[in-house]
Amino acid sequence: MNDQSETIKQLNLGQGNTPLIRLYNLEKKLSWKGQLWAKCEYQNPTGSFKDRGSVAEILKALKENKKGIVCASTGNMAASLSAYAARASLRCIVVLPKGTPNSKLQQAIITGAKLVAINGNYDSCVGKAEELAKEKNYLLCGDYETRRIGQRMIGEELAQSKVKIDGFICPVGNGTVGCAISEGFATYKKYPTFIGVQGKGADPLVQAFNKTLSPFTPIRNPQTVASAMNVGNPLDGEITLYWIRKTKGQMISVTDKEILSAQKYLATTEGIFVEPAAAATIVALFKLSQRTTNLVVILTGHGLKGGVLRMAIQDKQPRRVDPKGLRPGEFGDTISTQIPQRRRPEERQSKQQVLRDKFGREIPADFIR
Ligand SMILES: Cc1ncc(COP(=O)(O)O)c(C=O)c1O
Repeated sequence: MNDQSETIKQLNLGQGNTPLIRLYNLEKKLSWKGQLWAKCEYQNPTGSFKDRGSVAEILKALKENKKGIVCASTGNMAASLSAYAARASLRCIVVLPKGTPNSKLQQAIITGAKLVAINGNYDSCVGKAEELAKEKNYLLCGDYETRRIGQRMIGEELAQSKVKIDGFICPVGNGTVGCAISEGFATYKKYPTFIGVQGKGADPLVQAFNKTLSPFTPIRNPQTVASAMNVGNPLDGEITLYWIRKTKGQMISVTDKEILSAQKYLATTEGIFVEPAAAATIVALFKLSQRTTNLVVILTGHGLKGGVLRMAIQDKQPRRVDPKGLRPGEFGDTISTQIPQRRRPEERQSKQQVLRDKFGREIPADFIR
């Protein structure tokens, strides 16, 4: 065994080789003619796909004899890198935007990272991380080449599976994970359709795609309830557009309300609890007019990380929270709500007959509550 594979063995926390599971109930509910699958990236050790790229970056830091690493993060990268830095006995500084869910901060804190909170959005954290990396001579980690190489494994695992895959749906923040998946497939000469999802209000690539523009125009003050993809100036934006166009894919915008409904819908129909960014892929399924293909949704992060609408045990009467009134990141740990009451079966039935979108596709009545 060479030095590098020995180091990888020592860094290993059990990342990768995540399950690929069939979404039988969703297929039925959507009258899907092909097969729907989920790549369960939330089952990685720190609860997101970031662990794959973190191993690659920590390995690089060790090779370059760095004493520490620094990164900007919307939360999951901080949680992941700090865990692998602890495993490698490296120091770790994470720069986070205001509004990062507490649950993700806790993961970084418990593993000993130093947190630098910025009174701004993710894009301003990137500049600060670059500055700190220079000052301390730490390795600058983030959505750069090394991480993308680590995350290609998702595409490689999918390409090697026996499942026939025509396309995949992936949430897009910086665009790194979606591009990495496409690159992973490409190493096997496979080019499944890449369908990217962004939150409305933080969707510069959707706008560029719709207007066939390149380069895209960044959004200065991005706003989506899915904090993990609240990025206005995606680092891999142009490469994302390249892969989307090359694979004849598309970019889809989803609202806060749709994301939160889909999060609950996936949990109630399939028993899978993911964070809002991952749930955005389910909204995209509802919006696709072509329902005969075999698709994989990339479920990037665990629901226990935040974005949970907690039940207000103090409330006697059920009430709804309007997600539009919530600020990204804040709702997960501070706002409480109750599950709306179920409609009677006959009421649901009649609603189902009238719920059709503008293309005439049927939408299950219990999707948007
Ligand atoms: C759970 C989750 N999903 C999706 C994304 C978006 O990934 P990318 O920035 O690589 O496009 C992130 C990024 O932090 C994430 O944490």
